[in-house]
Amino acid sequence: AKKRLGKRSIVLVGLMGCGKSSIGKRLAARLGLPFIDADEEIERAAAKTINEIFADHGEAHFRDGERKVISRLLSNGPQVLATGGGAYMHPETRQRIRENGVSIWLRADLPVLMRRVMKRDTRPLLREGNPEATMRKLIEARYPIYAEADMTVDSRDEPHDLAVNEIVNRL
Ligand code: S3P
Repeated sequence: AKKRLGKRSIVLVGLMGCGKSSIGKRLAARLGLPFIDADEEIERAAAKTINEIFADHGEAHFRDGERKVISRLLSNGPQVLATGGGAYMHPETRQRIRENGVSIWLRADLPVLMRRVMKRDTRPLLREGNPEATMRKLIEARYPIYAEADMTVDSRDEPHDLAVNEIVNRL
């Protein structure tokens, strides 16, 4: 599976709570590739948490930084790259991913996503209003775009052995 990737990266996309980081870490270990979390790289570059970047500079500023950081990471060669839920919405980022990676949409339904995201308060988009209603809107707006990914994998099981096996087998 690793040979077939060549110089390309595996790029995990999907909504908050779909398992990009947990699946990404396991997948990277299985394939002997580095695991990179784009959100962590953005935080490192800004020396601020995602919550702080949104609060201090707004979402547009975050999106700009996100696009740049992912573009830079994608020039690094084979890795498993977990992207933030909104990253794949940007056409330029989708294009960069198409050129440098195999994209995998980790698909999960609303109750599974909610159960996972409510464990932590690290997502500015879910901090105001009704998080479940917000998530529903994001599902509606984003699922048609995530569906453009090269592969769609169901992410229901935990600790994600099924999803990881499926990805390795289908690569
Ligand atoms: C976002 C998802 C988050 C993070 C930011 C915005 C989104 O990443 O990038 O809070 O727009 O869906 P995760 O998907 O890793 O939670």
